[in-house]
Amino acid sequence: MISTAPILETSFPDLTRHGRGKVRDIYEVGDALLIVATDRISAFDYVLASGIPDKGKVLTQLSAFWFERMGDLVPHHVIATDVAKFPASLQPHAETLRGRSMLCRRTRPVPIECVARGYLSGSGWKEYQQTGMVCGVRLPAGLRESDRLPEPIFTPATKAESGHDVNISEDEAARLIGRDLTSRLKALTLDIFRRGCEHAESKGIIIADTKFEFGLVGAGNPATDVVLIDEVLTPDSSRFWPRDQYTPGGAVPSFDKQYVRDYLEEIRWNKQPPVPSLPETVVQRTRDKYIEAFRRLSGRELACGIRWSASSPKCSTRAFITTTRGGNSRRCSSRARSNARRAIWATRRTSSACTATPSLARSPNTASDGRRNPPGPQPTLALRPSDCLTGRPGLHRISSRPG
Ligand SMILES: Nc1ncnc2c1ncn2[C@@H]1O[C@H](COP(=O)(O)OP(=O)(O)O)[C@@H](O)[C@H]1O
Ligand SMILES: [Mg+2]
Repeated sequence: MISTAPILETSFPDLTRHGRGKVRDIYEVGDALLIVATDRISAFDYVLASGIPDKGKVLTQLSAFWFERMGDLVPHHVIATDVAKFPASLQPHAETLRGRSMLCRRTRPVPIECVARGYLSGSGWKEYQQTGMVCGVRLPAGLRESDRLPEPIFTPATKAESGHDVNISEDEAARLIGRDLTSRLKALTLDIFRRGCEHAESKGIIIADTKFEFGLVGAGNPATDVVLIDEVLTPDSSRFWPRDQYTPGGAVPSFDKQYVRDYLEEIRWNKQPPVPSLPETVVQRTRDKYIEAFRRLSGRELACGIRWSASSPKCSTRAFITTTRGGNSRRCSSRARSNARRAIWATRRTSSACTATPSLARSPNTASDGRRNPPGPQPTLALRPSDCLTGRPGLHRISSRPG
């Protein structure tokens, strides 16, 4: 069961919208950009009708983890991920933004996708079969699908407004953006990729390939004015393979979207509109995979908006807790409250991405100003043993859905 309804789009009429991508809604905030990752999911180049609850949080918090980790290689665009540090104009939207948004430095995006490949898959594998090369890079003969390459390669692509990006050679990239900038982006792409792969492999995940985006600031000097933007080494921008299921010589199931792709193949969707929606089991499994990738790679728990139930055999009332600000649950016992508080602090200790102050949040029938809502349908609550994060009796992650 799923904890919250997915956020498929945001609409903040008091803010100026800068753009909307397949996944992100972008707003202008003074000189900066507010980038909000929604729960939209795309497959075969279409945004599907169903979202994956919390996917936007996984993408944001995983990117934040990597941005930090790569900070000594290249400057990044993150100004703040802690909603409390966002400007006052954004505070009315704190609830929606928490955990899934970044205030970013506005840059001029370089119009190529910087792809790094360590394994032969996807469009790289297709091209290799026809030409023995990928994006102008000649590879050894006799490689099989999903084989590891002798060393990671840089294979840029143009950014298509719609449909597939088109692979280009390094020379073509140089014609588009200049030789110096291409060389700099190639070096950065491979450095970031290598570091990411090393870390991921130690966590049992192979990053077969990925794409980075860079932006320019100031005068756009390739040596000093390049900034890493967008998202970094997420399941959306990369092919993650579970290391224990890696077998070259065919397609390796991807870590995250495999259930979605399998389902779409199974219903024989013709990959044309109208786009299908996904059954709840596929949504749930996909969500679990995104969260697992985040946990494994970052060693953190997904922060903010997670609902906790604190209960004990002696405590008949559950406390409904989120790591959000404000609101008080008047229905829970002090025992439940202190259990829950401990759980939240435990989460915060393992999660530097957590941006919120722990506090007791509303119970499902308590309004945002703390007043009780009129009686109405209660969310359905379900405890799953696998959701127990602390191992301590009485503290469980819970999921709920509207009753
Ligand atoms: N710091 C930044 N400055 C300017 N543009 C950015 C920055 N970070 C990300 N972007 C742009 O924001 C958009 C992100 O939205 P997304 O949903 O990921 O788009 P897409 O459908 O192109 O993948 C991309 O077009 C990306 O180039
Ligand atoms: Mg994108």
